[in-house]
Amino acid sequence: MRIAMIGAGYVGLVSGACLADFGHDVVCIDRDPTKIAALEQGRMPIYEPGLESLVADNVRQGRLSFRTELREAVAGADAVFIAVGTPSRRGDGFADLSFVHDAAREIAGALSGYTVVVTKSTVPVGTGDEVERIIRETVSQAEFAVVSNPEFLREGAAIGDFKRPDRIVVGTEDPRAEAVMREVYRPLYLNASPILVTGRRTAELTKYAANAFLAAKITFINEMADLCEAVGADVQQVARGIGLDGRIGTKFLHAGPGYGGSCFPKDTLALAKTAQDHGMPLRIVETVVAVNDQRKRAMARKVIRACGGSVRGKTIALLGLTFKPDTDDMREAPSLAIAAGLQDGGAKVRAYDPEGIEQARPLLPAVSFAEDAYSCAEGADAVVIVTEWNAFRALDLKRLHMAMRTPVLVDLRNIYDPAIAAQHGFAYQGVGRSAGTASTSEA
Ligand code: UDX
Repeated sequence: MRIAMIGAGYVGLVSGACLADFGHDVVCIDRDPTKIAALEQGRMPIYEPGLESLVADNVRQGRLSFRTELREAVAGADAVFIAVGTPSRRGDGFADLSFVHDAAREIAGALSGYTVVVTKSTVPVGTGDEVERIIRETVSQAEFAVVSNPEFLREGAAIGDFKRPDRIVVGTEDPRAEAVMREVYRPLYLNASPILVTGRRTAELTKYAANAFLAAKITFINEMADLCEAVGADVQQVARGIGLDGRIGTKFLHAGPGYGGSCFPKDTLALAKTAQDHGMPLRIVETVVAVNDQRKRAMARKVIRACGGSVRGKTIALLGLTFKPDTDDMREAPSLAIAAGLQDGGAKVRAYDPEGIEQARPLLPAVSFAEDAYSCAEGADAVVIVTEWNAFRALDLKRLHMAMRTPVLVDLRNIYDPAIAAQHGFAYQGVGRSAGTASTSEA
């Protein structure tokens, strides 16, 4: 199949490279000439494990190429994927669809022969109808179908998620478009990944419902963590205890500093807005958004408490800045609110992140950056683990302790055993467990 992928961001680039790897001919198109020039030289605009070699392999084998101009690629394509950004609109939280609408107009002008136009970006319910209307208004004679095919990949695990999805959702009522989509995903179908064919609006809503549910699950366990701290229980054991119930499931029950990233914060807001616009407010989702926003700032207060009630004049070392490991993405990262809260309290903040420093620097102008975890901790009054990078999971605690002025360890991802941290002389604070509680045992 010949595929045009509009947008070479996270979703577009990963999807394009994976579809090429399935054996399709893929052209990735992005308006940004610098991005395309870099990609042509094999340089990735984002950090995603495995992406660089996947792109290089498929470029070498002639199945993947990059362009700034979509006309030629769209004219020759069986399927055109729209994978452009849908940021939150300033002020009301609704998804800004101007990039999607622009793409629809440009695609319309280039269509030739029956083409399936696929929205892969996360778009509010009804956007497929809009895209269809825009194309129809631009070229009344065009032969096309607009399909919703939301992407569920996670940053840092994007290639694996694309190639081994739990399910593929295809929203269309056009049998010809369905056949094209089944052909696009045939390699996965052979792997027995279920394809769920639904109406277009249902597919669009499914993506938001999935993200909102996961965001709610995380927020639920985060609130449970606070209660655990208050009553002297251990949230990790509570999570295990409820997660082993097959109806609940063990995933997405890690308590932490609140969710961030490019999807959950934006999509929960957009869903709440859609619901309000339809006179059907989603009170659970609205509460999740509010609780998660407050939590990030509350984490700074937690650090301040761990430092005896004040951080004025103290140096606080933050380990991990990105919203999760294995990405350089700083969007809505809890570290931003935590650093701000500590600075407002008079602290000097120093930070280290294995991949995110370049992205973090402009967002954290008053923070100084270290070369590694130990130099970050040098002379610090507290070390705060903000993101659970593998590099922080097995730190030499003796060396860390020696580097610090005061051995306070605030572990916002619960990657250390409180008892072991205490044995090394740390005043340890995790999330939802009291110092000295042993980690889960399932003997
Ligand atoms: C998410 C969805 O998982 C994915 O399906 C969708 O396509 C895009 O949004 P992503 O944002 O890349 O993916 O990362 P994810 O691993 O889901 O983590 C999101 C946030 O939740 C991170 O800040 C992470 O630290 C937090 N999280 C996740 C927790 O705090 N606890 C958990 O148990 C899981």
